[in-house]
Amino acid sequence: MKHSYEATSLRDRLCGSLDANDVGAIVSVCGWVAKRREHGEHLAFVDLRDHSGLLQVVVEGSVDVRSEYVLRVTGTVSLRPEGTINDKIATGSVELTGCSVEILSAAEAPPFQLDDRSEIDEQIRLRYRYLDIRRSQMQKNLRLRAKVNSAIRAAMDRQGFCEVETPLLWAPTPEGAREFVVPSRLHPGEFYVLPQSPQIAKQLLMVGGFDRYFQIARCLRDEDLRADRQFEFSQLDLEASFVTQDDILDFVSEAVLDAAEVATGERPTTIETMTWQFARDNFGTDKPDLRFGMLIKELSDVFATTEVKAFSAPCVRGIRVPGGAEFSRSRLDALTDRAKELGAKGLAWFRVTEGGLDSPLDRFLNDAEREAIRTLDDSETGDLVLVVADDYALACKVLGTLRTDLGSPPVSAGPHRYCWVTEFPMFEGLDEDGNPVSAHHPFTMPHPDDVDRLESDPLSVRSQAYDLVLNGWELGSGSVRIHRADIQSRIFAILGITEEEAESRFGFLLGAFRYGAPPHAGFAFGIDRLVAIFAGEENIREVIAFPKTQSGSDLMTGAPKSIGDKQLKELRLKPQAKV
Ligand code: AMO
Repeated sequence: MKHSYEATSLRDRLCGSLDANDVGAIVSVCGWVAKRREHGEHLAFVDLRDHSGLLQVVVEGSVDVRSEYVLRVTGTVSLRPEGTINDKIATGSVELTGCSVEILSAAEAPPFQLDDRSEIDEQIRLRYRYLDIRRSQMQKNLRLRAKVNSAIRAAMDRQGFCEVETPLLWAPTPEGAREFVVPSRLHPGEFYVLPQSPQIAKQLLMVGGFDRYFQIARCLRDEDLRADRQFEFSQLDLEASFVTQDDILDFVSEAVLDAAEVATGERPTTIETMTWQFARDNFGTDKPDLRFGMLIKELSDVFATTEVKAFSAPCVRGIRVPGGAEFSRSRLDALTDRAKELGAKGLAWFRVTEGGLDSPLDRFLNDAEREAIRTLDDSETGDLVLVVADDYALACKVLGTLRTDLGSPPVSAGPHRYCWVTEFPMFEGLDEDGNPVSAHHPFTMPHPDDVDRLESDPLSVRSQAYDLVLNGWELGSGSVRIHRADIQSRIFAILGITEEEAESRFGFLLGAFRYGAPPHAGFAFGIDRLVAIFAGEENIREVIAFPKTQSGSDLMTGAPKSIGDKQLKELRLKPQAKV
C-alpha cells in the first residue's frame, strides 16, 4: 500500500499508522521518545511518538535513548507476543523488531510529562508552548482548526466568494475596542492602527466591484482578555453586494454547517432564527443557549396591583429551576447576592411544595399571585421559582444570567444548537454626552419600518444587524450596510459625530461611496470560538498555537518587551517611566 503523504526521504510511515496489515514490512519511522522501558541489560521497549500516535519499537543492544530524543528507527513490523497487546493505542497489536536506531537529536529532560495535561500548570505549558503542542490534545485541537479553516474556504469558494487580503498596517476601524498602534519610522510621530476587523476595507472592496469577498482575517483588539477573547484572533470575514440579510444568512450558514460537518462528523439540520426582542424576552440575553429550558416568564400582569412592596415594579418576571427546591439556604443566599451584584434590589425565591410554596414571601401573596408563581413554566413539586421585580432591562439581565449560571452545561456537552438573532436595536443606550451609541457600528442600516423614528425615538429603532449564536457564545455579527449618503449623515448626526469628525475618521470610505456604492451587507464570525466549541474547550487559548496569557503576555518569547535605544530613537519614541 502506498502512503505517499506519510513518506519522506527519512521515513516510510507515520508511527500511528501501522497495524496488523503491515506485519512483515520493513519500515523506517521517525519521532520522539515518549517512554522507555528496560527489559534486562540489552533490551529496551521504546514508545516512539509522532503526531499520528505511538509505536512500540524494540531496541536491542546498548543505545542510549532518553525521553524526547528524536530517533529514526528502521525495523520489521511484527505482531506483539500473546498477552502483550495494548488495546488502548491504535498500533497496540504490533511492534517494530530487529531495529536499527539512529539518533537524530538528543534532548534534555522536558520540564513536564508530555502525555498528561491535567496536572500541568498552564504558565509552564505556555512558557514551553513548543513542547505543549507536541501533546496529542494540542495536536488534535490545532489540526481540527486547520480542517475547519479549509472547510470554510471551500464553502466560500463554492459560493463564488473571492479571497482578498487586506492590510494589517491600517487606519482606525469602527468596532469600538481600544486599538493597537504601530509607530511609523518614515513618518515620525505618526502611527498605523492594526485593524480590529477588515470592516472598512471590505466595504471598499464592494465599491471596487468585488461583489463577493471573503478572508480568513487576523484581527487585533486591545481589550481585556477572557476565556473567549484574545488580542489577536481570526474571523471568517465576508461581504457581498446586491444582497439582502437573508442572502448573508444563507452564505454564512453554509460555511458554518460545512465546518460543523467536518469537525463533528454530523451536519446540523437547522439553525433557528429569532428576533433580538424574542431572545431578550425569553432568555434575558442576546446570546441564548438553547441546550436547556428555564425560559423567563412574565408575571407583570399578575403583580400589576400587588400589595407586596418587593414586587411593585414596572416588570416582574421569573424562571423555574427544575429540582431547585432542594437548594440549601446558603445557596439561595448566594444566588441573592449574585442578583444584587448584577444590580437587582433583591431576588425572591419560592420552593414549590406539595401544598403550595415555601418562601419567606409566601404569606404576603394573594391567591392569584401564589397560583401564578406555583404554576410558572409548569412548575412541579420539588422545583424552585426565582422572581425579579425591577425595570425590564435589569430583570432580563439578572434572570438571564442566573439562568445560564444554573443551567448552562459545560462547553464539551452537546448538542450544538445554532441560532440567528436578528433585528438588533440600532443603538444601545446613551454615552456621557447623551448621544446614542451604535449597537453594531455606524455603517449599519436601520430597519426600513423604523427609519421614521430615527430622530424622534432613536432607542426604539431596530437595525438590520444580526448575530450567530452557538450554545450561548456569540460566534459572529453582521449587518446590512448603509450605502446611501443621506442615511449615513443622519446616523452620524444622531451619534453626535460631526461632519468634520466623520470626514477625518472615515473620509476615505465616505469619499468612495460618492463614486457608486452598491447595496451591500456582510458578516464575520470568530474562528477561535467556533473551533473551541467543536473541540469542547472552555478557553480559546486551547485552539491557538501561541496565545497570550490573561494579562496579555507571551510567556515563551517574553513579549511585550522593551526595545533598544537605537530603535526608540529611530521611531522618535521616548518611553515614560513605569508608574
Ligand atoms: P464583531 O466585532 O462582532 O464584528 O466581531 C465578530 C466576531 O469576532 C469574534 N471576536 C473575537 N474573538 C476572539 N477574541 C476577541 N477579542 C474577539 N473579538 C471579536 C467574535 C465576534 O462575534 N466587522 C464586524 C463584522 C461585520 O459587521 O461584518 C465585526 O468585526 O466571534
